[in-house]
Amino acid sequence: MRMTSITSTAMAAALVASLAVAALTGCGPGKQRNETVKGTAAPETGLAPVPPMGFNTWNKFGCNVDERLIRETADALVETGMLAAGYRYLVIDDCWQVSRDANGRIVADPERFPGGMKALADYVHAKGLAFGLYTDLGPKTCAGRPGSFGFEDLDAATYAEWAIDYIKVDWCNADDLDARVQYAKFRDALRRTGRPIVLSICEWGRNDPWAWARGVGQLWRTTSDIQDTWESVVWIINANSHLYAAAGPGGWNDPDMLEVGNGGMTGDEYRAHFSLWAIMAAPLMAGNDLRKMTEETRAILLNREVIAVDQDPLGVQGRVVIDRGYGGQVWMKPLADGSKAVAFLNMTGRELDLYVRWSQIGIPAGGARVRDLWAHQDLGVHTDTGRHFDERFKAKIPAHGVVMVRIWPGQKP
Ligand code: GLA
Repeated sequence: MRMTSITSTAMAAALVASLAVAALTGCGPGKQRNETVKGTAAPETGLAPVPPMGFNTWNKFGCNVDERLIRETADALVETGMLAAGYRYLVIDDCWQVSRDANGRIVADPERFPGGMKALADYVHAKGLAFGLYTDLGPKTCAGRPGSFGFEDLDAATYAEWAIDYIKVDWCNADDLDARVQYAKFRDALRRTGRPIVLSICEWGRNDPWAWARGVGQLWRTTSDIQDTWESVVWIINANSHLYAAAGPGGWNDPDMLEVGNGGMTGDEYRAHFSLWAIMAAPLMAGNDLRKMTEETRAILLNREVIAVDQDPLGVQGRVVIDRGYGGQVWMKPLADGSKAVAFLNMTGRELDLYVRWSQIGIPAGGARVRDLWAHQDLGVHTDTGRHFDERFKAKIPAHGVVMVRIWPGQKP
């Protein structure tokens, strides 16, 4: 069974590689210029056929970023096995920029980044990683640094010159602007550089990006900022759960970056956070200090079987199939090989029993093989004929926790 998830990870990787090549060869700037805000051209699955994965500085380090942190994090991404598990994008969030020069060019903090961004990008690329930065659509970022308003083309050209692969574009001081028009303008500026650069739209769901952001960016935030608390995680899960129809290869709902390993939640809560992000096909951007992770944090962020659910090439955002109303939910995400990922989520403070019938997760009556993705254990072939009450697949879920399984239908009992 382990083979199955490894195989789907490999399939996803192959798909990413082939689509990335297609994107590089098939998207000349001339063709791109024809696309309008209304999105007449084919959606760009090339830059994000599966949800982007990586690391972002904000959740743990805030404005305390410098080139040493970035180099050490690049090293850690490789040494911990995170790059091998799919975490590719190393993104510096707010506060790397301090001013503009006489020509209007954005200037990286010379004290914190004395070697400059191009040298840092080279270091990151040499490790096999991709490199990302942050800006804002308005005149100032959320932390008061210079934003991109009026400098979209110059900034895009600068990023391309520095060999940036990913840009997160925030929405502070931009409320008077039209998000749809302004993000499309940024996309077009990026396209004119000729360099494929992922556009991470970050307007916190204020302007319903799920209705227009496909074809503009590859991921779009759906909520306000995550906090390192269980209440925040539950709040975001509930908000993001309704938006499943908008997600798919090329464009993803972004319920914000991960807090796993930052210390504010229990192991069960972090496992639930990570599982739900995976079942919602969310981008997986680690937000903790990768240079010092506990064994438990590593085991969560590096759970390949759960990552395979997130990165599955079918690219469907899972959704709630059973909602008990009191805080018990069953989630299902269909996967490319015909199996289903199922998460039993307990948002209450007490242990819960939750059940599922095959008919409730769209699999035919009969035998189905079940594997526990956190225990890394086969749970055998379970048979639901559709007739008997006690044939339901049952799980005991810890308080503020999950049980996550993968179920392959059509198996002989
Ligand atoms: C906003 C974003 C965060 C982070 C900060 C940086 O709050 O939503 O993710 O980028 O700005 O200032």
